[in-house]
Formats: sequence, structure tokens, C-alpha cells
Amino acid sequence: MRRLLVIAAAGSGLRLGRELPKALVPLRGVPMLDWALRAFAQHLLAIPIDLVVVTAPQAHRAEFERIVAGRARVVPGGVTRSDSVRAGFAALEASDDDVVAVHDAARPFIRAQEADAVFAAAEATGAAIAAIPIVDTIKRVAEGRIVQTVDREGLYGAATPQAFRGDVLRRALASGRDGTDESVLCEDLGIPVAVVPVSRRVFKITTEADLELAEAMLLAARGRRMP
Ligand code: CTP
Ligand code: MG
Repeated sequence: MRRLLVIAAAGSGLRLGRELPKALVPLRGVPMLDWALRAFAQHLLAIPIDLVVVTAPQAHRAEFERIVAGRARVVPGGVTRSDSVRAGFAALEASDDDVVAVHDAARPFIRAQEADAVFAAAEATGAAIAAIPIVDTIKRVAEGRIVQTVDREGLYGAATPQAFRGDVLRRALASGRDGTDESVLCEDLGIPVAVVPVSRRVFKITTEADLELAEAMLLAARGRRMP
């Protein structure tokens, strides 16, 4: 049994609206993808990861190879996130009892201990995701007005890593469906998915405001590896 990792980095980052693919956008001068890879550095993990694959947009392959610098294999991504994960998973050639995690390059502040916990939960249960407890009061809105206040008890924002036994992820991805994460593909098949609560630092950089927050976090950390 091995621990394997796909870093999904093939998105273009439309909502961020830069020329560069989002994973190449620098945070304090270091590409977002590099921060994500550093979080999974072997010496930080309780159990090392055997193989890492990064999915990249075709047009920027060389730049991705330069950043990855031997720490991972780079494979072309797909049009949708699920297609990219399918491509990454295929490249890993995982066996049924390997545990395969998928992590968004757009979540650079994952900590190795959190990733270890998600891997361990998936080893124990077959499928587990990192998730962030919702702290806001949640309103359902239609036509500019509140329709309902949704009780936040038991509400989480799905994050990454999301880890699965090889046979489980193979089945989930084979459905051919597109999802904004992998756990929804499991839910569709009735496969139970465990939840590992993680820090709000694991937020996904999506908009310019998120980028400003990420820069501020790194500035506040002054010289430490991660905030
Ligand atoms: N991703 C991917 N392949 C795609 C689309 C997304 O590998 N075809 C990856 C992104 O690189 C990112 C993660 O999935 O690390 C989460 O997606 P998201 O935050 O939506 O990134 P983008 O799709 O790049 O951004 P946007 O939706 O704003 O275009
Ligand atoms: Mg997207």
C-alpha cells in the first residue's frame, strides 16, 4: 500500500482573471503551485508520499516542469477539473489498495499534518476529505432577498486533500461525471465519505481578494515556511 498524490493545477483561473494560469501566479514571489508542493515535502509528512503527479495546462507545460523540478511528474490536464483528475489518476497507475489523494494547487496553505490526517482517515475508511467548518450565518437568497436562514450546524465547506483507496477513486472517476470535487462522485455511488475538519487557512484562492489575503498571511508569517 502506497500513498499517492494528484495536484490539480490545470485550471486557467478565470475568476482571478490573470494572464497566467492560477497555479503559476506568484505569492510573495513564489508560484502558488510551489507553495502547495512544499506543503507535501517528504520531511514534513508522517508517512512519505510515493508518487506525485501535477496536472498542467498544455500550453504551459515547460513552465510547470521548471517549477516542479523533479519533485513530481507533470501530465496534461483536461477541460474540467474531473477530467484533469482522471488524467492524473491514470498517470499514477494506482493499485486498488494504494491510497490516492487529490489536492488543489489553489490551496497553498494546507499543512502536512492535515494531509497526513486525511490519508490516515482514507486508509481506515476508504474515502475521506478535508473540510472547513462553516462559521458564517448562511442565507438562501432569491431575487435579492433572504428566503431562508440555513442552520450552519453540521455545515462544512469541502476542501482538499480528498483521499480514496485506489479502487474507490477508480470507480468514482469511471462514472464520467464532472464534479467540483471528488467526494460528490462517491456520494453519487452511495460510497460513504469521512470528513476531517481542517483550519480555515486551507481556503481556496479563487478571487483577487483571496490573493490579497494569501499575501498578507505570508507577510505575517515573516520567514517561517507557512503562516
Ligand atoms: N483544475 C484543474 N483542471 C481544470 C480546472 C481546474 O486541474 N480543468 C484545478 C485548478 O488548477 C485548481 C483546482 O482545480 O487548483 C480548483 O479549481 P478552481 O479553483 O475552480 O480553479 P480554476 O478552474 O483554475 O479557476 P476558475 O474556476 O476561476 O477558472
Ligand atoms: Mg474552476
